[in-house]
Amino acid sequence: MNTVFGQKITVISNILRKKVNATCYDQFKMYKLKVISSTVRPGRKGPLVAQWIVEEARKQGDFEVELLDLGEINLPLMNEAVHPIMKQYEHEHTKQWSAKIEEADAFIFVTAEYDYSYPASLKNAIEYLVHEWAYKPSGVVSYSAGAFAGVRAVISLKSDLINFRNVALAEGVNIPTVNAFINEDGQFTPNEQVMKAATQMLQQLVRWTKGMKAIKEDQ
Ligand SMILES: Cc1cc2nc3c(=O)[nH]c(=O)nc-3n(C[C@H](O)[C@H](O)[C@H](O)COP(=O)(O)O)c2cc1C
Repeated sequence: MNTVFGQKITVISNILRKKVNATCYDQFKMYKLKVISSTVRPGRKGPLVAQWIVEEARKQGDFEVELLDLGEINLPLMNEAVHPIMKQYEHEHTKQWSAKIEEADAFIFVTAEYDYSYPASLKNAIEYLVHEWAYKPSGVVSYSAGAFAGVRAVISLKSDLINFRNVALAEGVNIPTVNAFINEDGQFTPNEQVMKAATQMLQQLVRWTKGMKAIKEDQ
């Protein structure tokens, strides 16, 4: 009888602890959002688009935002001997990349379309890790020089992310003719349609981040 009573007390106190933690988190902390700019070639447009969505996410108010530019991070082709599911990282670049992704609560991938898919640099950065991506939501901002706005890259990226238990949102931003939105100062200047899509994506990202955090903590 005492044992059963003790177990019940433990279950109830665990539930209360989780609820109190969740409430405290919601009230006092901002969610950590990593905006990942995917392309690495010299002269790439990715960071210009990424800088814009970083600023929009900061204005939104729920996120502490960090831009991760794969062109600067400069990961070599995945060169860990042990499968990343084991988290036995040998190289300093992997440990640093793992730490950045681990601390995130949510992501925005900013991606171009390269040869009807997303760039190899992003695929490489994703495949370095496994657990670090899991139970977190992602928004995708795609762009292209032409009319297709990178939508084929988005389809490939979303179908890969789910294998990492990373949930890509239905809402996203797709930018065609990206060069037309870049002004003389090298700033990305969106039109009304792009802004509306960004607002909707960010609203949903907060909602999913709250929900996914509860799922992640319930492991
Ligand atoms: C290797 C490569 C492949 C590309 N493939 C596509 C493509 O499949 N579809 C498309 O719409 N644009 C394609 N483009 C054009 C890109 O949309 C455009 O160059 C864009 O600015 C690339 O992003 P970045 O400037 O960040 O590298 C390609 C560009 C490069 C460099």
